[in-house]
Amino acid sequence: MMGCVNIKRTVLSSRKKRLLLSFLCVLPLCLFNGWPRRFQALKAINPFTFRNGSSSRNITILLWHWPFRRALSLRGDVCWDLYRIPHCRLVDQRSLFPSADVVVFHNRELVLGQQKLPLNLSRPQGQRWAWMSLEAPVHNDNLWQYANIFNMTITYRRDADITIPYGELLPKETEGHLVEEVPLNKSFLVCWVVSNYRTHHRRSKVYKELNATVPVKVYGRWTNNPLSSQALLPTISRCYFYLAVENSVTKDYVTEKLWRNAFQGGAVPVVLGPPLDNYKAVAPPNSFIHVDEFASVKELGKYLQELARDKEHYNEYFTWKHQWKVKLYTDWRERLCKICLQYNNLPQEKVYSNLEAWANAKST
Ligand SMILES: *[C@@H]1O[C@H](CO)[C@@H](O)[C@H](O)[C@H]1NC(C)=O
Ligand SMILES: *[C@@H]1O[C@H](CO)[C@@H](O)[C@H](O)[C@H]1NC(C)=O
Ligand SMILES: *[C@@H]1O[C@H](CO)[C@@H](O)[C@H](O)[C@H]1NC(C)=O
Ligand SMILES: *[C@@H]1O[C@H](CO)[C@@H](O)[C@H](O)[C@H]1NC(C)=O
Ligand SMILES: *[C@@H]1O[C@H](CO)[C@@H](O)[C@H](O)[C@H]1NC(C)=O
Ligand SMILES: *[C@@H]1O[C@H](CO)[C@@H](O)[C@H](O)[C@H]1NC(C)=O
Repeated sequence: MMGCVNIKRTVLSSRKKRLLLSFLCVLPLCLFNGWPRRFQALKAINPFTFRNGSSSRNITILLWHWPFRRALSLRGDVCWDLYRIPHCRLVDQRSLFPSADVVVFHNRELVLGQQKLPLNLSRPQGQRWAWMSLEAPVHNDNLWQYANIFNMTITYRRDADITIPYGELLPKETEGHLVEEVPLNKSFLVCWVVSNYRTHHRRSKVYKELNATVPVKVYGRWTNNPLSSQALLPTISRCYFYLAVENSVTKDYVTEKLWRNAFQGGAVPVVLGPPLDNYKAVAPPNSFIHVDEFASVKELGKYLQELARDKEHYNEYFTWKHQWKVKLYTDWRERLCKICLQYNNLPQEKVYSNLEAWANAKST
């Protein structure tokens, strides 16, 4: 109960501060407080500095074909206009191949045979070819044919040349920020949204065992109980725990099931995916519960039941929200623009001689 009261108090005082700020705020101060914030956050995680004169030339990123054939507008200076990333020219006209610093190929269309690599074109000196995918290795298909072709990888993996996670936590600025309340109007102990239910998935076994111990409310196409995108987060907010369980259990594969569904929905995530250490590297302590932390699923179920009854202890699973905010990545343009932030840190010369082995690496 104490934890709950404290949080409400913080909310009140930060609301007061905000009010005060909006009275005192003259225009330059407002601009300083609001607009450049995002940019600073980006700079904070990317050591690349724009002051260096030699890096002020424009970097051209050529997207050879759009992921899933869904083209987005690249009009204007897209990377600057949308993400405040300077000197980054994002294009999709193949005629610009000769001037491209990086040419990006999305794996899905290659797998489906809808697209082919332009192996007959001669690559300008210094041009890099990038292999891009957000999918788990099981969908990679045959990558043997791509030995000695690519210079870069762009994936959710932390050891990719460019890491494009499904989401991440960014530090919150302390001043004028509303501390989020722990959602308290809970109706269900454990919830899960699942469309693609397969008995061979490890998560299906965990679900069955858990459901045998504690009630698990299931939504999604599997149970003919789908949620609209508007209903998703409000529904999850009424659950103490959310099963953020991945369909592929593989290195660094942590999807929007954690970042959006659980973290933004306001339920404590029960995660199943890569090992515990992998989650610890991307999310703060006491922000999630890993299935592997328990000797059995039954033990996990008991823990969840006890935790839901102990409000103070339960609320501790939300204290990370004082310091961190969730950032989701959903726009391919943002992912592609991020290449420019790290361009100067790429190795001078690199070739993936065995992309198959790299992409299917199981260890963490
Ligand atoms: C910019 O960086 C390059 C190496 O990337 C370095 O050789 C050069 O001296 C730097 N220029 C300035 C002005 O710091
Ligand atoms: C870089 O791109 C910007 C925006 O398209 C353009 O205004 C500028 O002239 C370009 N700079 C160079 C050196 O090409
Ligand atoms: C390369 O091959 C493609 C077909 O795969 C063809 O359309 C294109 O004209 C060829 N380009 C050159 C420069 O040979
Ligand atoms: C709590 O949730 C129920 C739905 O289960 C809703 O009808 C009610 O208005 C909510 N109460 C508050 C205070 O949000
Ligand atoms: C989950 O548990 C409930 C209550 O014990 C049961 O009615 C239901 O059939 C179970 N669901 C599955 C898919 O096993
Ligand atoms: C990129 O890969 C190609 C083909 O293996 C290689 O010839 C080229 O030197 C590499 N370029 C860079 C910048 O690493």
